[in-house]
Amino acid sequence: MSGERTPPRFRVDRLWPDPATDLDLDDAFADFAPPPAPAGRLPVATNMVTTIDGRAQRMGTAEGLSGRADRRLMRLYRVAYDAVGSGIGTLRATDFWSTLPADLAERRAAAGRPPQPVALVIAGSGPVPTDRRWFGWGQPRLLVVGAASPLASGDRPIPGGTQLIVAPTDHPDPRWVLDQLAGRGIGSLLLEGGPTTNAAFLAAGCLDELYWTIGARVLATEALPMLTPIRGGSPFADAPREATLVSVHRSEDELFLRYRFEPASVHG
Ligand SMILES: NC(=O)c1ccc[n+]([C@@H]2O[C@H](COP(=O)([O-])OP(=O)(O)OC[C@H]3O[C@@H](n4cnc5c(N)ncnc54)[C@H](OP(=O)(O)O)[C@@H]3O)[C@@H](O)[C@H]2O)c1
Repeated sequence: MSGERTPPRFRVDRLWPDPATDLDLDDAFADFAPPPAPAGRLPVATNMVTTIDGRAQRMGTAEGLSGRADRRLMRLYRVAYDAVGSGIGTLRATDFWSTLPADLAERRAAAGRPPQPVALVIAGSGPVPTDRRWFGWGQPRLLVVGAASPLASGDRPIPGGTQLIVAPTDHPDPRWVLDQLAGRGIGSLLLEGGPTTNAAFLAAGCLDELYWTIGARVLATEALPMLTPIRGGSPFADAPREATLVSVHRSEDELFLRYRFEPASVHG
């Protein structure tokens, strides 16, 4: 557990609901909680940042798409969730980690929860960069790989402290992944992308909320949006998945939106 000794403070305006100006960001999200669990699985949200023109990558990573307030907010979202997960494409692209700074870890511990969320990476059949720092942080780690993964046989070493879970399919089915988490006592999952993983969970009817930061910039590149096209054709092309706007906050020129999806009628 490590982090800022003095947590950074940011000011936000709440635009919806109950408009209020000049709030402390931490205070504004102090009561933030995951959505209610749908029938039969744990609740899942994804947190993404895009530019105004909807790009979720800049020069191959998400770096530089938003400001420091958004980075603090990313950690405030994590506080509320039991597990924080990403697709392997994100770990291949960048050496991220999903630990909380000391002040937020202490807040969880004071509430009787593990100080750090469980870290999850979901891979398919491609390479897994086991030299990433993600494998070295002091938090429980789950690595889910597909049946055809180079790691699936268990012959290759993976860094200590990482629990390897091999799926029965080449691409782990999101519902199967959620069952695996539930079986380990995990009650909620916050995804942090990437766009392919988001699309897989949406297609499987396993995405309940979206936390979307709009960074006040434009790229006009061919970078990925927050969701890739669903493989095999989108079931939502003719019947778009409806969402409800839960809240909107503003930090300087950036917007923090929270959307809740209506219960899914598509089940992977
Ligand atoms: N703007 C943001 O907020 C944000 C957030 C996160 C990431 N990003 C950016 O997004 C990019 C990475 O996104 P990405 O979409 O390429 O990768 P990703 O979603 O992180 O991972 C995709 C990979 O997940 C594996 N996978 C596991 N289960 C799957 C399933 N059921 N269906 C499909 N794939 C499954 C596949 O791995 P195999 O290849 O092993 O088969 C697939 O290639 C990076 O540039 C990253 O920086 C941006």
